[in-house]
Formats: sequence, C-alpha cells, structure tokens
Amino acid sequence: MSKLTIPVRKFDAVIVGAGGSGLRAAIQLSEAGLKTAVLSKVFPTRSHTVAAQGGVSASLGNSEEDHWHWHMYDTVKGSDWLGDQDAIEYMCRKAPEVVVELEHFGMPFDRTDEGKIYQRPFGGHMSNFGEKPVRRACAAADRTGHAMLHALYQRNVRANTQFFVEWMALDLIRDDSGQVLGVIALEMETGEVVAFHAKATIFATGGAGRIFYSSTNAFINTGDGLGMAARAGIPLEDMEFWQFHPTGVAGAGVLITEGVRGEGGILRNSANERFMERYAPNAKDLASRDVVSRAMVTEINEGRGCGPNKDFVLLDITHLDPATIMKRLPGIREISIQFAGIDPIKAPIPVVPTCHYQMGGVPTNYKGQVVAPDGTPVRGFYAAGEVACASVHGANRLGTNSLLDLLVFGKASGDSVIEDVQSGAIGLKELPENFADFTMARLKRLNTQTGGADVNETRLELQRTMQKHCGVFRFKDMLVDGVAKIVEIEKAVARTEIKDKSQVWNTARVEALELDNLIEVAKATMVSAEARKESRGAHVRDDAPDTAANPNGRDDVNWHKHTLWQREGNGLSYKPVIMTPLSVESIALKTRSY
Ligand code: FUM
Repeated sequence: MSKLTIPVRKFDAVIVGAGGSGLRAAIQLSEAGLKTAVLSKVFPTRSHTVAAQGGVSASLGNSEEDHWHWHMYDTVKGSDWLGDQDAIEYMCRKAPEVVVELEHFGMPFDRTDEGKIYQRPFGGHMSNFGEKPVRRACAAADRTGHAMLHALYQRNVRANTQFFVEWMALDLIRDDSGQVLGVIALEMETGEVVAFHAKATIFATGGAGRIFYSSTNAFINTGDGLGMAARAGIPLEDMEFWQFHPTGVAGAGVLITEGVRGEGGILRNSANERFMERYAPNAKDLASRDVVSRAMVTEINEGRGCGPNKDFVLLDITHLDPATIMKRLPGIREISIQFAGIDPIKAPIPVVPTCHYQMGGVPTNYKGQVVAPDGTPVRGFYAAGEVACASVHGANRLGTNSLLDLLVFGKASGDSVIEDVQSGAIGLKELPENFADFTMARLKRLNTQTGGADVNETRLELQRTMQKHCGVFRFKDMLVDGVAKIVEIEKAVARTEIKDKSQVWNTARVEALELDNLIEVAKATMVSAEARKESRGAHVRDDAPDTAANPNGRDDVNWHKHTLWQREGNGLSYKPVIMTPLSVESIALKTRSY
C-alpha cells in the first residue's frame, strides 16, 4: 500500500465535461446549494455542443399540431426499436418543459411571426405516427448549440458553479465496494495531478467521434469518459452503433446541418436526380440519417457520385430565397464558402456522410444513474449526454434529439444526485489508501518510455482502421480483420512515447492520454460490431441484407438486445431492451420505412 501522494480537493459533486449536459447538470446542483466542480479540457463555451446547428426537438406545436407521443413514436422507430421505451417516453414528455426553461435562461431562439419559438422540420420527425414531416426542431438560426452553451454557461456563473478549465480527468476513483468517489485529473497548464473527491461524480464528457478518420467531431472528442469507465470495470453499451451524418463537407468533414434539408434543401446525384425519392418515397430528404447516409453511399458506389472522382453528392439550396438562407442558415453559407469554396446561394454544396455521433455509451437509466448489467445503480456515479447510453437513441439517433438528450438527462442526473445526497444514500466516503496508484503508474510509464510508438502515427492508424473496417456499410471479413488490427494497435498504444517530458502545457502528454481512451472506444466498437450478426439502424452488414421477406435486415429473434462490452477480456454480454414505457402502451416491433 502506498501513501497518498497527490493533493485532494473535496466537493459534493464533480462533473466531468462542460458541454450542454454538464452545464445543465451543474445548474441543477449549484442552484440546490451543492458545492459543485466542473472540469473541462476547454473553456465551457468551446465544448463540442457549440457545433450543434439545426435545433433541439420538442413537440411545442408552435406552427402546426404536434404531440409528445408522436415524438416518442418517431424516436422508437428511428432507434430501429433498440431504444429503451421508458427513457424515450421520459425524454419526449419532458422536452417542452426543458426547452421553455432554456428560453427562460436566456436562450435566443428564432421567432415565428407570432413571437413563438421558431421550429423547422428535421429528419425522421413526423406528425401523427409517421404521416408527414412536422416542425419540431426549435432553432436559433443554424447555431442552436452555440446559443445554448452560452445561455447555460451564464446561468452557471449566476449559480456560482466552480469551473476547472483546461483540466483533463484521467481516471475514476472507485473503492472495493464499487462506489465511485471522484476522479483524478491533470491540470494542463501546470502538469499537476489532483484528486477531486466527491459524494457524486457525473460524466458529461461527450462523444468519441475522433476514433474515425472523417468526423464532424471536435478534436477534444476522444472518449475520455468511456475510457475512464472501461478502465474502472464499467461495461460500455451498444458501441457498435455510430451515426454517420449525411452532410459533412466533402474532403473537410465539417457539419452542414440537416436543417438545410429542413428548410427545403435537396440531395442530388450526378444526373441531377433527387435520388432520395427512390429510397424514402414519403419522407424523401428528411428520412432518418442512417437511411439517407446509406442512400448517398449507394449512389456513389454505383457510379452516380459527382466531381472528378465521383466521390460525393450535392446538397442543393439554390432554389431557396437568398433572404431565407441569410436569415435561417447564415453559418452554413459561411462554412460552405470557407471549406468548399462554394456560395450555396449560387451553387450546390459537395457533401459526404461523416462520423457524427455515438449512440452507445456508459449504461444509465432514465434518471441519469449509471447502472450495472442487472440494472442496479452504481453508487455515486451518474452520466448524461453523448457519453451516456440511456438508451434513447438505440441503433440510430434522430437529429435534434441530442440537444434534447443533454438537457433532459443533464437535469435528471442533477436531480438524482440531489436526491441521493439529501437522503444520505451517498456521502463523502474515505478514499482507499492506494487510490492514485493506477493513474500514477500510467503517467510514470509515459514519462519513462523509450523506443516506443509515435502517438500521432498510432492514432492515425487507429482512425484509418475504424473508417475502413467499420464505416457506413460493414462487411463480415473486414470486421474480423478489423478486430485483429485494433488488437495490434492496442499493443502500440501501450508503449507510446513522448519525446517532451516537460510539465507545463505539454500537449503531447495530453494527446497520449487521449489515445489511451480512443483505443478503448475503438476496441468496444469493433468487437461489438463484429459480434452483432444482423443489420439494425446504423449497423448494416453485407451478410444481413434487406430482403423482401425482411426489409430491414434485422433479426429480432436473436438480436433484439443491447450489447455490453467489458474491457476485461475484451468480452461481450447482452441485456434486454426495455419495451415498457412509463405511462403509455409499448410501441411494438415492426418494419421501418420512411
Ligand atoms: O444536422 C444538425 O444540425 C445536427 C443536429 C444533431 O446532430 O442533432
């Protein structure tokens, strides 16, 4: 047993991550008087939520009739029936409340002529249980996430939340009983390592889209929460399901919001054909993202792509009134000019599907409590937002449900912490004597490694392997090879070397530590994907094709279940999908078409 060797700071709650879910949880806790620390690798308003563009969903019905039950139906259908229906009902019912609350925090939503929150159509959101696209995405032009982050951050400043900016959490602290007692973190500016000892720990670390070569995700999205959870023995749920957003700028990957299609944008192939009419005759360009991305890749693979290499399709808004583009999509115009050299008022934008979102994550219930495989909460541990798997998105998320997810479950996780602290269910338990040993050994290994692997090269190999072996379409042999390759890359990650061993602002050390997290996510993804022998939502295999008898390639008899990947032994287990909502009837399995 070693002696404590690092400083310890004590809080009621520590939140890791200052994007939408972390900030929303922090408001709840700080306003309830809990001493709350928020750790973030970047200044809060630079978190990846800033990149969310098109809107946050809520059945406000501001322009036409809408109902939370229709929203719930669309979300279950979008998830290809892999979403848990208790959590989906909770989220869709809460949506109007959290959006109006956000407005009262100062969120500058666009307005209808009557002064109500402006709503636009978005993929997979339909009226009356699948009839026609409905206006459900509450938008602040095409900068909704940006506006949201500022509103939430300002509310936190008012509530005296304590921010630790440019700190990277390294590992969870867990005692022998399995209770979570906080995190160990690195201050990037000084290189100091500190324990944040807390009654409650909330992970709000966002996604891990940087496991892929082409991604809409920020460079900070390295799956830190997933890596920490996996190393602490928490399984990761449904990691085979990754969303490829249909419209990343070709060659750059930068997001072009689905709100463009919500405002009337049309996808065209090299023959100028509106090809989505063939794939989704009802919803067309506003079908769910997995459907649109696959249609685009099929067009490209069958030789109907555009450009000299026929490797992208076109997103056309030249038929829209320029005033609408300037008012509703100003950011998109700017991005297109900067990254594609195209003014979308005059010419269509070249786009390709790009990795955007992880549907899986740390398993939680709808209260934001992290749960063991049998559903029992892990004491002292909570998660919300993209790092968490509640599971509201199942096998495919609907656009705008992510901003909603982080508001609803950020708030719910905060409420759960308040309840658990106030009832005495969790308290400040003593830290085990050796709590820092594992982390300090990781840092020492990195500081003393010689003749090791280069971090940048290893990360690039990981990203290229994921892109090639686990993309929009998946092939049996490629998945098997992919698992072997990732296991090889893991060996290089275990012996990465940094030449610069200095303490102050050593970004090389931070990137090496991030790679430790990326590899856990990559392993979880590849192993889970290789094992799931069906097509469902965003996971589509060549050996489980759509047929007339089985139009979705699903195998509900054998595979209507959640995957749990465990780091120890790289092993898998499964658990049932929750089909019982909280108050309404179950939405029964059926074929999905748009
Ligand atoms: O297309 C978009 O604006 C992205 C929204 C989302 O991922 O929810």
